[in-house]
Order: sequence, then structure tokens, then C-alpha cells
Amino acid sequence: MSKFKTISWMHFLALIIELMSSPSGALAYNVVSFGAKGDGRTDSTLAFLRAWMAACSSVRPSTLSVPRGTFLIRSVTFTGPCRNSIQFAILGKLVAPDNYYAIGNLGYWIQFHKVSRLSIIGGTIDAKGARYWSCRRHGQSCPQGARSISLQWCNSVLVRGLTSYNSQIMNIAINRSNNVKIQNLKIIAPSGSPNTDGIHIEYSMGVTIKDSIIKTGDDCISLGQGSMNVWIEKIGCGPGHGISVGSLGNSFNEGGVQNVTVTNSIFTKTQNGVRLKSWARPSGGYARNIVFRNLVMRNVGNPIIIDQKYCPNNICPRQNSGVRISQVTFKNIKGTSSTQAAMTFRCSSSNPCSGIRLQDIKLTYINRLRRPTLAYCENAIGSSNGKVFPRSCL
Ligand SMILES: *[C@@H]1O[C@H](CO)[C@@H](O)[C@H](O)[C@H]1NC(C)=O
Ligand SMILES: *[C@@H]1O[C@H](CO)[C@@H](O)[C@H](O)[C@H]1NC(C)=O
Repeated sequence: MSKFKTISWMHFLALIIELMSSPSGALAYNVVSFGAKGDGRTDSTLAFLRAWMAACSSVRPSTLSVPRGTFLIRSVTFTGPCRNSIQFAILGKLVAPDNYYAIGNLGYWIQFHKVSRLSIIGGTIDAKGARYWSCRRHGQSCPQGARSISLQWCNSVLVRGLTSYNSQIMNIAINRSNNVKIQNLKIIAPSGSPNTDGIHIEYSMGVTIKDSIIKTGDDCISLGQGSMNVWIEKIGCGPGHGISVGSLGNSFNEGGVQNVTVTNSIFTKTQNGVRLKSWARPSGGYARNIVFRNLVMRNVGNPIIIDQKYCPNNICPRQNSGVRISQVTFKNIKGTSSTQAAMTFRCSSSNPCSGIRLQDIKLTYINRLRRPTLAYCENAIGSSNGKVFPRSCL
């Protein structure tokens, strides 16, 4: 009897949801109908999960909608596969609890796992990372930290119009996911906030990132091992550490990075502009077919840099990097450097960089009346074309 009642209640709910469905034919699941409260205080995690489960099991395309308001959620995984495409449409704001352990222990805040045909549209998320960074800065024992949005084993994903504030560590992590498009994002964390990379890619193919503003404490975008076929266009980066391939050479058996283009972007007061970095240790990894072009540097620390002796904190392997770097083009890169080192190619003696191409470069010292900029080469082989200033050392 009670089982029968449950079923009929479910049918009734399904009917209500049918009636609320949008004219496009997609079924709409509003988190508020599942118990979420946009008051900024009530824990809405379970309501979001219930709405997800309903939307994900819909045979028709579905929309999970988050209306205006501030919704408090803890670490949550939205798991697929779903039966049809699913859109996460966010008008309001999602915030993490004040206590940083609530999301910091699991390594992620909002995670999507094995979801295909997913779009995340609009919205603001705030992980409230400040206290967590302060814990790290004071060398206390802190949790590992949470990536604000984590895509794991997802395919055909669109993220558009999202604003992410104050992630504990990376803002957006794309891992083992293919065909991912990211557009019109704003990512904001203070300069100097530790490890708050804007977007990190790892073991993923076919990733496009466009028309976005990234201000952060670490790399605006970092491309880790196994990143392939990546297109990055119209990014405003800074403050931050620039756009980086690496750090590679984390482990011996790691995937390579290949076919990456970064174009039409502006770097403002960043620590680096475009960079490839690897740890100085044996590795089977590689980075090849990388193009950096049409870039403007404004007061950037190291506008162009390949560093195979990457050692940010003085505790490093100090062997020869086994990562093979080849076919890297820097073309039409102009602007100012805040140090004299406008171009640095510090490559491995056991695996020199090859096929480095420079074309139409003009990078002047911010204080140009005092000193010229310089190019520095170590184990780097390549060619230069057109006007290149400072003069190439290849
Ligand atoms: C990617 O996934 C692997 C496990 O498959 C995990 O060890 C790693 O930490 C993940 N990286 C990111 C950036 O999510
Ligand atoms: C390189 O990546 C782009 C996307 O950025 C893709 O369109 C192109 O087909 C890829 N080229 C190869 C040879 O895979």
C-alpha cells in the first residue's frame, strides 16, 4: 500500500514537472521546488542533488534551474550519465559555507562526474577562499583545498557566462574530459592567492576557452599533462602568472601536451606572459606544436619563457628535465616587460628544445630609457623571422 502511494506521488510530481516545462520542449527542474532556499544560510546541497537526479533521469532534454537568490551548498558531485542533455541554468549565486573544511577536505566543491551533453549557463559562484589561503600562508595544517568547478570524465560540455570568485585552489578543473567549450567567464581571486589557477586542463582533448577575463593568484590558464587540441582566444589575463603549459615532468609516465594555440589575448601585470615549464627530473613527457600569437604584454615579468628548471620554492629535483619540447612558435607578440628578461629559453641539456620559432616580436623594458630588454638561451634550437626585439639568441 505504502509502495503504491509512493509511486502515485512520484507520478503526480512528474506531471507537475511536465506542466512547468519550458516551451523549447526541455523539462525544467527548479531547485526551489526540491527544497532549496535562496537565503544564503540554509544548506541546499540535498535539494540540488534531488533536482539533479530528477533532471538527469529525464528522457527529454532537461534544465536544472537556479533562480535569483544566494544558495549555500557544500561539496557535491553531480553524477552522470544522464538520459539526455542537461542544462544547469543559474540566475542566482552559489556560495560555500564559511568553514573552509566543509569543501576543503574532498578536493572539489562542485563536481560533475561522467556527464555528457552538459551546459552550465550564467550564475555566480563564490567559494570564499580567503580564510583557507590565510591558513596556507601561515603554514598551518590545512585541508587539501577544493577546486570550485571540477569536470571529471565529462564530454561535450559548454560553460558560458559564469563568474567564479575566490576559489580555494583552482577555479575550474577539466580532467579526462573531451569537447569542452568555455566562453564569457569571469574568474576573480586576489593577486597572490596561492594556487588559484583560473582554468586547469589535464588529460583532455578538444578544449576551447574564449572571451574571458581571468584575474587570479596563479596561472590564468594552465595546461597540464595530456592536454591536446586546445584553443585559447581573447583572454584578458592579469593579475596572475600568465598562461602556462605545465608544470610538466611531475611523473615519469605522463601524457604529453600537443596542438595548443593561444591567440588575441592581453596580459596585464602578470608574473609571466606565455610559458612552458617543467621540473628538472627524468620524464617521458613532451610538449609540441604549440603556437602563441597576436598577444599584447603590458608590464609583464617574463613575457616569453620556457623554463625546464622550474623551481618556484627552492625545493626541486635539480636533474635534467626529460620533457621534450619542440615546435613552439611565438609570433606577433608586442608590449612591455617589467624585467629585462623579455625572452628566456632555459632548456634541458639532455633534451634541448627544438623548433622554437620567433617572428615579429617587440618587447621593450617598461623603463625603456634606462636599459634594453634581453633574450636568454640555454640549450635552445630554432629560428627567427621578421623583426625580433630583443635580438634572438637562438
Ligand atoms: C584528474 O584525475 C586524476 C584521477 O583520474 C586525479 O588523480 C587528479 O588529481 C585529477 N586532477 C584534476 C586537476 O582534477
Ligand atoms: C588542433 O586543434 C584544433 C582545435 O584547437 C583542431 O581544430 C585541429 O583539428 C587540431 N589539429 C590536429 C592535427 O589534430
